[in-house]
Amino acid sequence: MKVLEASFVQGFIRMCDDGFNQNWHERNGGNLSYRVREEEIESVKEELAWDNPWQPIGTSVPGLAGEYFLVTGSGKYFRNVILDPAANICIVEVDRAGENYRICWGLVNGGRPTSELPSHLMNHEVKKQASGGRHRVIYHAHPANIIALTFVLPLEDKVFTRELWEMATECPVVFPDGVGVVGWMVPGGRDIAAATSRLMKKYDVAIWAHHGCFCSGEDFDLTFGLMHTVEKSAEILVKVLSIRPDKLQTISPQNFRDLAVDFHVTLPEEFLS
Ligand code: 13P
Ligand code: ZN
Repeated sequence: MKVLEASFVQGFIRMCDDGFNQNWHERNGGNLSYRVREEEIESVKEELAWDNPWQPIGTSVPGLAGEYFLVTGSGKYFRNVILDPAANICIVEVDRAGENYRICWGLVNGGRPTSELPSHLMNHEVKKQASGGRHRVIYHAHPANIIALTFVLPLEDKVFTRELWEMATECPVVFPDGVGVVGWMVPGGRDIAAATSRLMKKYDVAIWAHHGCFCSGEDFDLTFGLMHTVEKSAEILVKVLSIRPDKLQTISPQNFRDLAVDFHVTLPEEFLS
């Protein structure tokens, strides 16, 4: 099969376009990666090449040795992915040591995978282990309301989790573990990747102060839906804070506990006290 005919590639392209249409991907902002299943790689082998040079990942991900990833290209625009996928995305293979990658398909006009590859791969490594292999998608976007909140709320996991949960009843059901927050750091490197992947051991959502958000999930629908839910909640909070600084009423800790029982989720008490 041709790479572009494969359903995982079609799903990836659709997600890029959906994200652009949400206004989360100005210019080359944001990046997406998918850990490809063995049978999926097998199905597109006719179009893969293994003669490109190995390049350093910039960090070490031994837990991903030999895995393949579909990723967006660095400096490439999400709005162009649907028009010319082969020029804007690529499939990379990770070597046996988990130290290097090589491009096996895509970026036909040149380029390299996203500058956030260290964060994507370190998050994949953590989530692969934490989810027993179920999580396959790591998504980085620049949603305006999430970013806006990082200027006015304390950069604490508990504050962000409670405020976002309170903005919509479905939120604690969609992200029951809460959200983590990384203070401002230089993007694109190993340090921010390590800080983010530490949070990803506990959460499926990591917010980068004054920059954007990372989400992890099992498939494109769940991961896009997670980003969408967190950003919608942030939008409501921005509206609430704009109308008046203090809430007249909200969802109480006991309301959350009652919700957790009926919806069969566990909400950590650390966020309810
Ligand atoms: P890339 O174009 O390298 O993917 O970078 C975009 C971005 O959002 C960096 O955080
Ligand atoms: Zn970014």
